[in-house]
Amino acid sequence: MIDVQDVSKRFGRVLAVDRCSLSVEKGTITGLIGPNGAGKTTLFNIVAGVFAPSSGRILLEGEDVTGLPSHELFGRGLLRTFQIAHEFSAMTALENLMMVPSGQRGENVFASCFRRGAVMAQEAETRARAEDVIALLRLGHVRNELAGNLSGGQKKLLELGRVMMTDPKVVLLDEIAAGVNRTLLNDLAAVVERLNREEGLTFFVIEHDMDLIARLCDPVIVMAAGTKMVEGPMAEIRANPEVVEAYFGGGQAGAA
Ligand SMILES: Nc1ncnc2c1ncn2[C@@H]1O[C@H](COP(=O)(O)OP(=O)(O)OP(=O)(O)O)[C@@H](O)[C@H]1O
Ligand SMILES: [Mg+2]
Repeated sequence: MIDVQDVSKRFGRVLAVDRCSLSVEKGTITGLIGPNGAGKTTLFNIVAGVFAPSSGRILLEGEDVTGLPSHELFGRGLLRTFQIAHEFSAMTALENLMMVPSGQRGENVFASCFRRGAVMAQEAETRARAEDVIALLRLGHVRNELAGNLSGGQKKLLELGRVMMTDPKVVLLDEIAAGVNRTLLNDLAAVVERLNREEGLTFFVIEHDMDLIARLCDPVIVMAAGTKMVEGPMAEIRANPEVVEAYFGGGQAGAA
């Protein structure tokens, strides 16, 4: 699905990503872990078209998409979330879901513009899907609440809901667990698993919560000092002394 080929990114004197190569296979939930400052978020930003790499290439389904802007990648089914809380706070949870563009579904824009019936049918379809998503996320009790009033965890669920409205192929999640309580985290994880299993979505997930990584991800890629160090199932990663040393500086192996 995604191939990162020999990618580097320099910010002034900092080499944030250093000749990194890795792949995310279609249909997987691939984890990306590593110490603070390893370059994970920078790599995500490059893959998602937030900025171009200093060198190297990004392939999406085998096509070179290096340097394409986010909205074009979105049109090709790649979505990055949890970068910022970009829910529209003055709209309700339900309205937030209905606002999501569905440009990559291949519908004929002209046909729907000129045929009022079709527009209304499409609106009804969008509303029905939004209601389904709300129910699936168990946000029914806050469906008419302004998004700005939702808890941090509920906002993240809503953000995942916006993903579900768009039919993406691959979704990049950066630290969805941060600041989310256990119950909501279980809901989030269940939704990710379900989207992966039932709708075939590929996920690429940065996470510091090792339990969540262990539950969701296979394989797990460890990044350190701007590049890929090892890759494998979480059980192997946890047992790898090199990883324990790089990630936890040796002293906190128990945290893994
Ligand atoms: N916009 C920027 N300008 C300058 N330096 C940056 C910028 N973004 C990241 N860096 C630097 O690049 C390096 C990698 O940062 P990055 O945020 O990608 O790490 P990370 O693996 O996501 O860390 P964390 O686990 O803390 O989120 C760090 O040294 C960081 O200070
Ligand atoms: Mg980061």
